Amino acid sequence: MSWKRTLVLGLVGTVTGVAGLAAGAVAYAALTTEARLQFPDAPIPDLAASADPELIARGRYLVHGPAHCSACHSTDDRDHPEKVHTAPVAGGLPFHMGPLGSRFARNLTPDPETGIGAIPDGLVARAIRSGVLPDGELSFFMRLACATPSDDDVVAILSYLRSLDPVDHPVDPGHWALFGKVLLTYAFPPLTPRDDPPPVRVPEAEEPSVERGAYVAEHLALCTSCHTAMDPSTFEPVGPKAGGSLPEASHGADSDMEFVAPNLTAHATGVTGRLDEEAFLARIKQGRAYVSSIMPWENLQDTSESDLRSVYRYLRSLPPVDHDSGPPYRPVGWTAP
Ligand code: HEC
Ligand code: HEC
Repeated sequence: MSWKRTLVLGLVGTVTGVAGLAAGAVAYAALTTEARLQFPDAPIPDLAASADPELIARGRYLVHGPAHCSACHSTDDRDHPEKVHTAPVAGGLPFHMGPLGSRFARNLTPDPETGIGAIPDGLVARAIRSGVLPDGELSFFMRLACATPSDDDVVAILSYLRSLDPVDHPVDPGHWALFGKVLLTYAFPPLTPRDDPPPVRVPEAEEPSVERGAYVAEHLALCTSCHTAMDPSTFEPVGPKAGGSLPEASHGADSDMEFVAPNLTAHATGVTGRLDEEAFLARIKQGRAYVSSIMPWENLQDTSESDLRSVYRYLRSLPPVDHDSGPPYRPVGWTAP
């Protein structure tokens, strides 16, 4: 055999081997992703809804206000985010992730067929606290983008959801496509249910406080998750707290545009450095500037003045970060001039 032939055969062999390995890896991912996301034994919190009108009212406030459940669960119309104020939490936003697949925020009203009517309180509470869905599948969205309320506040949320009128509205359960499964298997570290101890509730009070602000900003409104630079594959912070996010392409029709969640700290380059408490409240009340922004503006407009003042004071108490992230809305790949 000539050396050329040996080389060609060797190359073909290597290429076939690599292709075979890749095909094997894809098949492995396809077969195991569903299993990797199954956590049927995740602990079920011993929490139950109550008919206490005070709890129902607090739950209503949390769902539509700071915990912003309604931002995802009440409208499927990304072009009209203001519907969050009026639509019931009967199923919601589509998350179309291109070749990764699609998922849909579900109907949270007590309809037994299309909502959570037939799902026991403990399983609803588990979805909220750990991200594990009633059928045992760990939800990417509930795990990473949902609030982490205290046990008391989970009870308030359950009580409110159980008090709603049932709405018959079927929601597509969605799916992960093959490429999504490959990514979930290989590109991301294994996702596990949230199992940190629930935070202790700091009740809302007449007098705003840094402590209440920390609870609202870290566990209900998630200001600090969105406004901090995170590694997109591990979701671990890679920048200082509330110092501004990395750019992220828009989820709207304007996919040639990107957003950054700006620095919220008290440095001159940060939002609470530039705005005093009254100007900050006015900015939140003024609301949304960009239709496709993922910032839950409508829910913060339905958040109490006292809670917003607490959030401001908490953000001011964080170490100031010197970072100007540029315009919050700009073409993908924008760089500072
Ligand atoms: C970032 C968007 C988002 C937010 C915010 C959010 N959810 Fe969800 N939620 C989803 C999606 C998407 C699903 C469907 C599961 C999936 O496909 O991953 C879901 C599923 C659920 C389920 C499971 C329902 C079922 O029938 O299986 C419950 C319960 C739930 N969410 C409650 C809440 C509550 C309560 C809040 C507020 C504290 C909340 N969610 C906030 C996106 C969100
Ligand atoms: C889901 C992600 C997300 C969450 C949660 C979030 N933000 Fe934002 N925020 C953004 C993005 C993205 C922008 C930039 C686009 C825009 O202005 O809508 C932004 C913009 C802002 C602005 C506007 C700054 C300016 O210069 O006009 C303020 C103020 C703000 N956020 C404060 C907060 C506070 C306070 C919280 C918590 C109570 C919060 N955000 C929660 C993503 C988020």
